[in-house]
Amino acid sequence: MKTLVAQARSQFLALNQIVNGQSLVYLDSAATTLKPLVVVERLQRYYAYESANVHRGAHYLSDRGTENYENSRLQVAQQLGAESSDEIIFVKGTTEAMNLVAQSYGAHFLNPGDEILITEMEHHANIIPWQMIAQKNNFVLQAVKVTPDGELDYEDLRKKLTPKTKIFAVTACSNVLGTINDIPTLTKMAHDVGAVIVVDAAQWISQEKIEVKKWNIDFLAFSSHKLFGPTGFGALYGRKELLQKMPPYQGGGNMIAEVSLEKTTYNDIPFRFEAGTPHIAGAIGTTTALEFYNQFDLNEVRKHELALLKAAEEKLKSIAGIKFFGRSKTRAPILSFNLEGIHPSDVGQVLDQQGIAVRTGHHCNQILMNRFGIPGTVRASFSIYNNESDVDRLYRGLIKAKEFLS
Ligand code: ALA
Repeated sequence: MKTLVAQARSQFLALNQIVNGQSLVYLDSAATTLKPLVVVERLQRYYAYESANVHRGAHYLSDRGTENYENSRLQVAQQLGAESSDEIIFVKGTTEAMNLVAQSYGAHFLNPGDEILITEMEHHANIIPWQMIAQKNNFVLQAVKVTPDGELDYEDLRKKLTPKTKIFAVTACSNVLGTINDIPTLTKMAHDVGAVIVVDAAQWISQEKIEVKKWNIDFLAFSSHKLFGPTGFGALYGRKELLQKMPPYQGGGNMIAEVSLEKTTYNDIPFRFEAGTPHIAGAIGTTTALEFYNQFDLNEVRKHELALLKAAEEKLKSIAGIKFFGRSKTRAPILSFNLEGIHPSDVGQVLDQQGIAVRTGHHCNQILMNRFGIPGTVRASFSIYNNESDVDRLYRGLIKAKEFLS
């Protein structure tokens, strides 16, 4: 009998198509996962039959919409192990979440000279928002070094994480190296010096059962589209005591209690941070995506994906001149590499001509590229719907790319 994971592939209709004359091999799930049919159908049902605004109508569809929207908040709270759904703010995605924390927490509760610590493996979404407030308010921005194996340099971390550090913003999983960081330990280290921790869980959300309350995490963000859900939707978890004292991030409808020309009082959390009509379909589609994902045994998923990662590494290492980036002991199924003397974007193009989708370039991670002295990498990332034949196609595709481009 086929396992649930083996059956998952049939949910992804995108894989049935021909791209450039060959059946599609999708190895770009770290950028965005494909969407299962159940999520596509749920979105279609919302737009076809249920479309109505939330929190403000006095009619059947609006009430249903509000119910479904708030149910999504409950599901997300449960998924992250939060104490209350009030701690879940719906946003466009991880990038908006980081901007929200930077502007609403960072810009208000730090003083000139205070330090914000990030790491060299951060995605731009977890660099630029901090850089912006640091430059404007004279905060000091520092980055923890990355070792040659692509892990956090703990010696450097211990040097830079000091009582002067007020925010430690760190990815739980590198989108380039696949490195999974030990977030419970990093949280404790941040708290020991009196800093709050802000966790970028964009790549982590599909890898581990997250427990924000148990691990005492202050802020954590993820994007739904990296977990089989819709694009343009994500969530920020914030510890209640912190959210309650934070000022609004954007002004508009829904985030207010009372408005006059002279003065506005603001709504309670989480609504205070959700100005305007939200992405209702995004929330509803996310509920279905979580249901889809949670039907699998996470250990089985990890085993499947890591077996593909291992098989790919084993096969590809026989290609002369290949260089891998990222050899952490704990990894997500992300494989970054370059072929000696060939630009990564040329490799990506030749793979694309063979129907193989990978991502190439700096992956919104230019500090890390500078750290390794490279312009970019080729990145193959695996998900629940990939199989051994995809690994084989990647290998054969790279042999062709080498022949063609050398
Ligand atoms: N952050 C996304 C990636 O790594 C876009 O590809």
